[in-house]
Amino acid sequence: MTVHFIGAGPGAPDLLTLRGRDLIAACPVCLYAGSLVPAQVLEHCPPGARIVNTAPLSLDEIVAEIAAAHAAGLDIARLHSGDLSVWSAMGEQLRRLRELDIPYTVTPGVPSFAAAAATLGQELTLPGVAQSVVLTRTSGRASAMPYGETLANFARTGATLAIHLSIHNLDRVVDELSPFYGADCPVAIVWRASWPDERVIRARLATVAAQLDPAMNRTALILVGPALAATDFHDSCLYAIGYDRRFRPQSADSPFAEPAPEGGERDA
Ligand SMILES: C[S@@+](CC[C@H](N)C(=O)[O-])C[C@H]1O[C@@H](n2cnc3c(N)ncnc32)[C@H](O)[C@@H]1O
Repeated sequence: MTVHFIGAGPGAPDLLTLRGRDLIAACPVCLYAGSLVPAQVLEHCPPGARIVNTAPLSLDEIVAEIAAAHAAGLDIARLHSGDLSVWSAMGEQLRRLRELDIPYTVTPGVPSFAAAAATLGQELTLPGVAQSVVLTRTSGRASAMPYGETLANFARTGATLAIHLSIHNLDRVVDELSPFYGADCPVAIVWRASWPDERVIRARLATVAAQLDPAMNRTALILVGPALAATDFHDSCLYAIGYDRRFRPQSADSPFAEPAPEGGERDA
């Protein structure tokens, strides 16, 4: 018996991996994390599966569900929204499973920041403008931010910020970022990225709060940084004519001139 942790993606049911879908279909028990996991994903569960919404459960109750399935020899699909590597509460569940000697696997999912960037039709890293994306949040009722992980500290880098779990703190986000990025810095809010009712606001730090619809009060990402509106960035070297690289050696003398291995990588 194994617990399969599966990233269920940002909302669109077809943004689930094939591996995730197949694991869900193979497990007679499915535990899923509340409203952020779309109902259509649960349709992959086999007929008669035990399907449990864990939103109202405590960690102890979730572990009890897992232990009961384990005792019965039943595999479990454990679904969380987006990817499991950020804000999924997987870490504390894995710690319990290790203590109980219950085996598990982890299958990644499409994270919400990637879905939001796709909605915007944008690359978040542009040459000479931003080469880092910071996935962060502001402190909430249940989670204080560790010392040093402040918006101001991240803002000092000029990176693109993808601020999760913070739409209710938008005024604070604007106040903390404006001294570093400037009032004219581009901001995008993507609400329910990839869901049928997704919405986008494009604004500047100075104007974004006035544009926010109070109905967009959960499940939104705040993206901030110059890369969101930059147009005068230079091309990357990847496809530049004359750039000597492994898969496009420019001369017989190039250190990259030897043939690429059969079946080798041909592109970025
Ligand atoms: C508990 S965290 C889960 C993050 C998730 N593990 C991921 O990979 O994105 C929930 C937060 O992620 C963001 N989020 C999740 N799904 C989203 C979506 N479809 N559109 C916009 N933001 C989303 C919001 O900031 C929300 O408050």
